[in-house]
Amino acid sequence: MIQTIGVIGAGQMGRGIAQVAAQAGYGVVLLDVNQDLVNGGLAFIEKTLAKAVEKGKLQGSQKQAILDRIKGTTAYDGFKDCDLVVEAATENPDLKRKIFQELDRVCKPGAILGTNTSSISITWIAAVTKRPQHVIGMHFMNPVPVMQLVEIIRGLATDDATFAATKEAAEKMGKTVAEAADYPGFIVNRILMPMINEAFYALMEGVGTPEAIDAGIKLGLNHPMGPLTLADLIGLDTCLAILNVLHNGLGDPKYRPCPLLRKYVDAGMLGRKTGRGVYAY
Ligand code: CAA
Repeated sequence: MIQTIGVIGAGQMGRGIAQVAAQAGYGVVLLDVNQDLVNGGLAFIEKTLAKAVEKGKLQGSQKQAILDRIKGTTAYDGFKDCDLVVEAATENPDLKRKIFQELDRVCKPGAILGTNTSSISITWIAAVTKRPQHVIGMHFMNPVPVMQLVEIIRGLATDDATFAATKEAAEKMGKTVAEAADYPGFIVNRILMPMINEAFYALMEGVGTPEAIDAGIKLGLNHPMGPLTLADLIGLDTCLAILNVLHNGLGDPKYRPCPLLRKYVDAGMLGRKTGRGVYAY
């Protein structure tokens, strides 16, 4: 039974996963490469929970109990008692493989090694471990505390017990699970990223201003946000990385990333997290 969950990465995804896991009653170990990043993640969770208290959705004592369940660390040894670890580092294939080798070394036998990758092959990540049967994709959506879905993806060797335990943990965190097969982009990004990419082509070709493109989709299709606003929320570097995975992995030119998206990334305009993307924040 899963009691303690490790999370790698205190960025926008990792901090959200740590929060929903702690809210569900799990002990959480949150790791990042330095203490400042860990503290940044913890402070954000504190702020989010404080807002929930202000709104009367949470009691002060509950907030403290949730925070007390989360332990920050910068050392992988902190994961030795975890039953499940969810990796939410940046979307870099080589980095993910290094992390999984390290996790395989420190985690106890039987522990499940999950990845929040939005598009990289689970089978390929699992192959660097000696426990591919316990490796699984657990893909949360951004913002994690708000979004209902978790995609769960089996690698080629993932066993049924690992799938069942991961699904149970996601459901305990209040999420609904969609199972996706291990193909580039799984379900959500296979469908979302071509839309976002097309929005950048439309912008590049002058079909509309950013505001008009976003209004078209938000008000014309009843999406909660327009695609360019959503791209800024996800991070333009992450969108580009996912499009590259779709393009390389599926080989169809329809997935080629828009040059304008590349230009924003080259300029370091990555969206909300850098204060400037398609829009200024
Ligand atoms: N963390 C925690 N809570 C947050 C939050 C965050 N980052 N952002 C918003 N919220 C909460 C707010 O506190 C608010 O809570 P209450 O209802 O309790 O008051 C609630 O969410 C609604 O927020 P707002 O009223 O401020 O704003 P909104 O109604 O416009 O909703 C939104 C904001 C939920 C982000 C909404 O615009 C939305 O659903 N957008 C689409 C998001 C989306 O598509 N995400 C998936 C991205 S794809 C992905 O993640 C996969 C990938 O691999 C790239």
